[in-house]
Amino acid sequence: MKKLIFATNNAHKLEEVGAIIGTSLQLVTLREAGITEDIPENEPTIEGNALAKARYVWEKTGCDCFADDTDLEVDALGGAPGVHSARYATDGHDFEANRIKLLRELEGKSDRKARFRTVVALIIEGKEYCFEGIVEGEITTREIGEGGFGYDCLFRPEGYERTFAELAPEEKNAISHRGRAVAKLAKWLKNQ
Ligand code: IMP
Repeated sequence: MKKLIFATNNAHKLEEVGAIIGTSLQLVTLREAGITEDIPENEPTIEGNALAKARYVWEKTGCDCFADDTDLEVDALGGAPGVHSARYATDGHDFEANRIKLLRELEGKSDRKARFRTVVALIIEGKEYCFEGIVEGEITTREIGEGGFGYDCLFRPEGYERTFAELAPEEKNAISHRGRAVAKLAKWLKNQ
């Protein structure tokens, strides 16, 4: 079976993405590919970060691979947290601190429009391809729901009464930023 390195060690993401890619390809994590160090994510855009991560893996392994990068863009905050979504409140990936900061920044604001955006960068035989997925929605005024991760319990997708944290994983996958970007990737791979 053909192998494809997915530049992540996040079990949650691997599960989401594996469900969309299906079983015709074997997804290999960074750890399984022998990459144990943190890959730098210092680019000013998520496109830049996704490409930088994929190029790092390609240069290190010479194997076909892909990487993703996601941000949350809130209109009333001029697009913040944006490319800094993971490190919004602190230097670490502190999901709870990030949510508390986001709610504080939006206090008293009636415009709660926001979107999640994912870019997947794929490198196949040295050639680079990018796929984008976007989901529009709004930021709630408090945390609602138990599932998911990150900002899920604060994000209500357009046309839904529930937040991402209240949706079943398949429901989230079908409409989410990452789900949409990975569906484009899966379609592209299938047509090769
Ligand atoms: P990453 O590029 O996928 O690591 O995403 C950056 C940050 O965006 C993460 O640290 C999370 O806080 C947030 N994030 C990414 N994807 C999701 C999601 O599906 N739900 C909620 N938050 C997410």
